[in-house]
Amino acid sequence: MDHPPLIVLIGPMGAGKSSIGRQLARQLGCDFVDSDRELEHRTGVDIPVIFEIEGEEGFRRREKAVIEDLSECGDRVLATGGGAILDPDTRRILRHRGVVVYLQTAIEEQLRRTRRDRNRPLLQTADPETRLRQLMAEREPLYRETAHVVVDTGAGGVPQLAKEIIQALEGWKAEHDGS
Ligand code: S3P
Repeated sequence: MDHPPLIVLIGPMGAGKSSIGRQLARQLGCDFVDSDRELEHRTGVDIPVIFEIEGEEGFRRREKAVIEDLSECGDRVLATGGGAILDPDTRRILRHRGVVVYLQTAIEEQLRRTRRDRNRPLLQTADPETRLRQLMAEREPLYRETAHVVVDTGAGGVPQLAKEIIQALEGWKAEHDGS
């Protein structure tokens, strides 16, 4: 594929942004970067520690700065954290600099993929399902507003989903070039 300079993956926790993104980059022959991992690398601590010390607000500030930096370069796939799109500047920057893919995922699937996770502070609650539903109600309109392309992650394994994304991006590009 004659791929666009920057492909951005957005979507909720447990959408598979990192695993699908890594596979997508492999299939496209470009780099893969993950804003959460980069944030951990820069600060030298895990995300739960950032939440603990600086709260969600501090985490969001850092997340915004990392995404702003990582989205400056093209020829890469950028996976973002589930709440990255809460910031209006981030939404604008991502849409402007890249082609944004929303990985749409059912709550049941999110729950299944995050069940034993201890690295996501927002899910360390007695009722993660309710939390995921609340977050989705809040964020779904923002995912849709930011995305150029929506891909459902419900069916198929990671390599298949990466192929589907490439097809969706080609479709988007054909439409976009023709307009
Ligand atoms: C968050 C999602 C996480 C991480 C942080 C907050 C969120 O990333 O950025 O725990 O607000 O949804 P993943 O979507 O990769 O799990």
